[in-house]
Amino acid sequence: MNCSARRCNTLPFQSILFSSHPHYICNVPDHIIIAIDGYSSSGKSTLAKQLAKALRFEYVDSGAYYRAVTYYFLKEELDWSDLNQVSRALQNIRVDFHFDAESNECQTWLNGTDVEKEIRLLEVSNTASKVSAVPAVREFVTEQLRNLAKEKNLIMDGRDIGTVVFPHADLKIFMIADPKVRSERRYKEMKGKGSDVSESQIEKNLSGRDELDTTRPTAPLKQADDAVVLDNSTMTRAEQFNFALQLVNERLRHSLDKQHVRK
Ligand code: DC
Repeated sequence: MNCSARRCNTLPFQSILFSSHPHYICNVPDHIIIAIDGYSSSGKSTLAKQLAKALRFEYVDSGAYYRAVTYYFLKEELDWSDLNQVSRALQNIRVDFHFDAESNECQTWLNGTDVEKEIRLLEVSNTASKVSAVPAVREFVTEQLRNLAKEKNLIMDGRDIGTVVFPHADLKIFMIADPKVRSERRYKEMKGKGSDVSESQIEKNLSGRDELDTTRPTAPLKQADDAVVLDNSTMTRAEQFNFALQLVNERLRHSLDKQHVRK
């Protein structure tokens, strides 16, 4: 039983999922998956963390997994186009996530070391789309991501979560935003973290990653047929959160009804 269900187990099975307070969720069946996919800097992780905190679901940033693998290749000066080097490297990579729903902070660990700062460097951002296009890397990461989801209510964001990693996710959201808006957001975020980058570097990085992510042969970024599109170009964080929460409420009710009929 997950912690959300434990917290509310005195309520009747089909009670209303949410009280008027969005941080309170009741009688959620085990193992609900919410997949959030979309373009770089479209606000996926912001939304995923907002929802994870409100619903008390675990949050997994699948991009951080690919970034950690990429960081390993860069650090060890490995060639990701060499299949032997790739397969040896993958045997030596262990990635863990430490997510604290209260603080909304997520740390990525690579082989026992916190690499959260390192994996956000522009060099890693520039290389991650290339490393993540390698089929063996995708196969490895996909399996690890699926393992993370076992018996957990989970929100995962990325590029292929609703199409490949969890094609049967309970809710799929596909996030889009105007490229100019995305670059500005990313620039502000990087500057806020003290990074010495120019706006044109960011624009170049985002358009390059969009191109590689959408055109790679294996698991390209694309909208799942059953995903709900969320264009947040002109939305505030609160507006996008409310939009998504409404969707979650509808889909979880549906999951509960189905489970009730089976019993
Ligand atoms: O979400 P992000 O920008 O941190 O992701 C980093 C890179 O990882 C991105 O350029 C594409 C890749 N990625 C992927 O191919 N599949 C995913 N599910 C998540 C990320």
